[in-house]
Amino acid sequence: MPTILHNLRSGLQGTEDFYFLKARLAITGSSCIDIAEAKSSKQPVLIKQMLKAETLLRFQREQKILAQLKGLPVSEVIDHGEKFFVMPHYKSVSLYKLIKEVNGKIPQKHALAIFYCLLEAYEQIWQAGVVHRDAKPGNILLMANGPSLVKLIDFNVAKSEKLDKRLTAPGSMVGTLSYMAPESAKGSSRVDYRADLFALGLILAEMLNLKPERSFDKTRDFIIWANTDVPVFNEEQLRDLPRELALLVRCCTENQPDLRPKIPVLKRQLLSLF
Ligand SMILES: Nc1ncnc2c1ncn2[C@@H]1O[C@H](COP(=O)(O)OP(=O)(O)OP(=O)(O)O)[C@@H](O)[C@H]1O
Ligand SMILES: [Mg+2]
Repeated sequence: MPTILHNLRSGLQGTEDFYFLKARLAITGSSCIDIAEAKSSKQPVLIKQMLKAETLLRFQREQKILAQLKGLPVSEVIDHGEKFFVMPHYKSVSLYKLIKEVNGKIPQKHALAIFYCLLEAYEQIWQAGVVHRDAKPGNILLMANGPSLVKLIDFNVAKSEKLDKRLTAPGSMVGTLSYMAPESAKGSSRVDYRADLFALGLILAEMLNLKPERSFDKTRDFIIWANTDVPVFNEEQLRDLPRELALLVRCCTENQPDLRPKIPVLKRQLLSLF
């Protein structure tokens, strides 16, 4: 058996008595996700498995954070082993997939409704002392049913007040460059919920088919941009949006975290746009 396959199988040791493995959903550098079914309950599940020993700490941390957020609109951990954990396989579509399927043209009312639900979901995790630090369409599920329209996933690089604050050495950056807030370049201790809010502003813009000025291939390019005060969107790019909506996108993506809106104010502004 090829080494990679052997490693993948041995990482899942202990699951075969309880789960039928069906197919591979995704494989990234550090983890892979398999589609499976619980033998006893027939519940569709996903098994997320760690592939690199050096990411074990983060992987275990993701499980702890998800456990801490139990009951909130985040994916649930229903079982775990040393190198894997099991989540329900939600009937859902990722926001990434939805945006792609409609060629970036989500009707404005729908984009606003999704954004409002996202804000409510994020507000709950922030109140629980967690910053996601990887808010992006691929880490957001739009649910086919259930109490909440959205579920947040992938807490691999999240920061939790309750857990060790030193996982990310001061100065190092985590997350996805294209959604990253400028303060991330100045060290993880500077990053709070407002960095998630910045990413949410970019996600709203993406749902409205707006492309930011900035695009980064390398961390270095991001750091250079983060040290300028160039706004993510200029007047020209926001020209076609209704004035209040343009203002809202603009203020969520302010370079200075202090200038981004307070959540209750933002929610009131959003409601006035419906
Ligand atoms: N519980 C779930 N139910 C349905 N789909 C899911 C679930 N968890 C993940 N997915 C799907 O799998 C994709 C990848 O999941 P996730 O973001 O957790 O992994 P990743 O980005 O590959 O991992 P990592 O960044 O931790 O290496 C998501 O975009 C989503 O489409
Ligand atoms: Mg992800």
